[in-house]
Amino acid sequence: MKTIAQIREDALNELNAAQDSETIRNLSVRYLGRKGVVTQFLRNISALPPEERPQAGKKANELKIELDQAFEAALKKLEDASAADDRIDVSLPGRPAYCGVLHPLTQITRQICDIFARLGFDIAEGPEVESDYYNFEALNTPKDHPARDMQDTFYVSDNIVLRTQTSSMQIRFMENHTPPVRIIAPGKVYRCDSDITHTPMFHQVEGLLVDENISFGDLKGMLTTFVHQIFDDQTSLRFRPSFFPFTEPSAEVDILCVMCRGKGCRVCKQTGWLEVLGSGMVHPAVFENVRYDTDKYTGFAFGMGVERIAMLKYGIDDIRRFFENDFRFLRQF
Ligand code: FA5
Ligand code: MG
Repeated sequence: MKTIAQIREDALNELNAAQDSETIRNLSVRYLGRKGVVTQFLRNISALPPEERPQAGKKANELKIELDQAFEAALKKLEDASAADDRIDVSLPGRPAYCGVLHPLTQITRQICDIFARLGFDIAEGPEVESDYYNFEALNTPKDHPARDMQDTFYVSDNIVLRTQTSSMQIRFMENHTPPVRIIAPGKVYRCDSDITHTPMFHQVEGLLVDENISFGDLKGMLTTFVHQIFDDQTSLRFRPSFFPFTEPSAEVDILCVMCRGKGCRVCKQTGWLEVLGSGMVHPAVFENVRYDTDKYTGFAFGMGVERIAMLKYGIDDIRRFFENDFRFLRQF
């Protein structure tokens, strides 16, 4: 009997002194495990005088249960204490939550649309998979026309293309509306093209204005106003004679390269200027295709590259940045 009381006292003293769960688990093994002190005691009961056996067995079993509960309770207490330590530390500096922003190209497209909306233009949108007729043929660019080489085209089939230009919307809109016409058509276009200023998919905003007495002066005034609004009114631009089958005369507009301020760099291919749009007076052959009276109406059209404008506005020297989805880049806008 004395031994049981002693075992109990020793075990509880050791448990009291235990600081961590590993010590407690070891204690449990040492007292209650297969070769533990209490287990051994129970096994040796048969060596006791017969009259002492029932009492000793009872006491030993009670001690076994008592110690088991004491070890469990001590372990649970430690666990609860460490869970309390895991609670939120309100004194830690906060982790920043990044707020989503519109893609820079979406932002620029919207700015372009806003400027033209204030100038009285409506927005028209149309398909990216386009018939050869709307993308080329009706724009005075028949199949054997050398100007088709200017735009390296993705063909879906003989007569279906991924549109190479938003100019297809000129025809689609004029087919269904009578003058006066004043629209812009933003959207994606596709060309087999890739370098630091060209991507196979890019964005254009087409513009078309048709009315009586529209002159090249109106075109110049409108585009100069636009450039001064999207950049600032100090921005240098130049109209450079060019060729498009669907405009005559035609001009391309260049902006002074912001990367080198006109000195010449890899972005402007050492010219000091970066082309942002093509434009011109609508060719009478185009008006004939949509049955507009060419004696009564004249008009101008333009098509600008959204990426080019974004590059100039933000000083980005490689167009491919827009499509890499690198958060370090995108977060800056
Ligand atoms: C055209 O696409 C004509 N449709 C523009 C036009 C419309 C002329 C109406 C007359 C009347 P161009 O191929 O030059 O023209 O392209 C227009 C603009 O798109 C370019 O000035 C340039 O800013 C941009 N661009 C052209 N190719 C790419 C490309 N691969 N990646 C990014 N931007 C491009
Ligand atoms: Mg061009």
